[in-house]
Amino acid sequence: MYPLIRNRRLRSSEAIRNLVRETIISPSDFLVPLFVVEGKGIKEEIASMPNYYRLSLDHLTNEVKELWKMGLHSVLLFVKVPDNLKDNSGSEALNENGLMQLAIKTVKNACPDMLVMTDVALDPYSSYGHDGIVADGQILNDESVEILAEISISHAKAGADFVAPSDMMDGRILSIREALEDEGYLNTGIMAYSAKYASAFYGPFRDALDSAPVDIKNVPKDKSTYQMDYANRFEAMRETQMDIEEGADIVMVKPGLCYLDIVREIKNDVDVPVAVYQVSGEYAMVKAAAEKGWLNHDAVVMEQLTAIKRAGANIIASYFAKDVVRIIG
Ligand code: PBG
Repeated sequence: MYPLIRNRRLRSSEAIRNLVRETIISPSDFLVPLFVVEGKGIKEEIASMPNYYRLSLDHLTNEVKELWKMGLHSVLLFVKVPDNLKDNSGSEALNENGLMQLAIKTVKNACPDMLVMTDVALDPYSSYGHDGIVADGQILNDESVEILAEISISHAKAGADFVAPSDMMDGRILSIREALEDEGYLNTGIMAYSAKYASAFYGPFRDALDSAPVDIKNVPKDKSTYQMDYANRFEAMRETQMDIEEGADIVMVKPGLCYLDIVREIKNDVDVPVAVYQVSGEYAMVKAAAEKGWLNHDAVVMEQLTAIKRAGANIIASYFAKDVVRIIG
């Protein structure tokens, strides 16, 4: 009791603050999302994500070599698919020589020890911008799950270490796990987007991949029939527990900052690693405010990411990963 206990003693110098700090960010916490496009010599900045780029495979090679040297040893791959290759069932996703499959091989060629995770979802390949097949005003569940399992096999075959289904269809983790077992990919991991909320913070990402849902009669233009309602907490626990039972190695909460209550609750409840995705809209907000001189970019980045880790994240997918390495020097 005061004055016997003066909490400020432990804050009185930088040395003591460093000594007692509970949460420390390091490069090995990060999973770096990368956007891949067709073509050659392409490195185009994403308008709503300043200083983040779509890369063609040649630039992808340079990028992963740079990441490796910086101590960033895990990537999460996304592809931007040209419109003429999109259809309702995302059939291009199964092309053995498709962009994702080539991207996986490109990363492994450039950096054999880089951990490669891949986005498994229909939306970049879907003419409707949905994470499942659209029919009769619905996003079909079981039919979509079958395709997601096939996509996972295709990624594993191309060399992916982990597949990361981001679709929120029911039962997909079990189907993917069984398919991987059946095909002999016993060591391919699954990072499940378990508590993925229907969020307005995904806007810039959908610009990056040109994957926003389109107008379809009788189908909501958002993803609220499969992604979670942001008002819900118990549902996040149920989704996460089910994914673990179905065979997920890592579970994820997404987005980050608005959902740290969920992160802590899941962290307290499960014994698998918990990942958090600090999404594109979170990145864009910081960049925009910093550009205007309204926030201190580096300080805000570190505060937000430390908060995400403090809340219980073992892994953080973040577009700020390279910034962090620069900041912590
Ligand atoms: C799609 C997917 C999305 C993100 C990752 N995978 C967008 C969506 O669900 O529409 C969002 C990532 C971000 O905003 O950074 N399956």
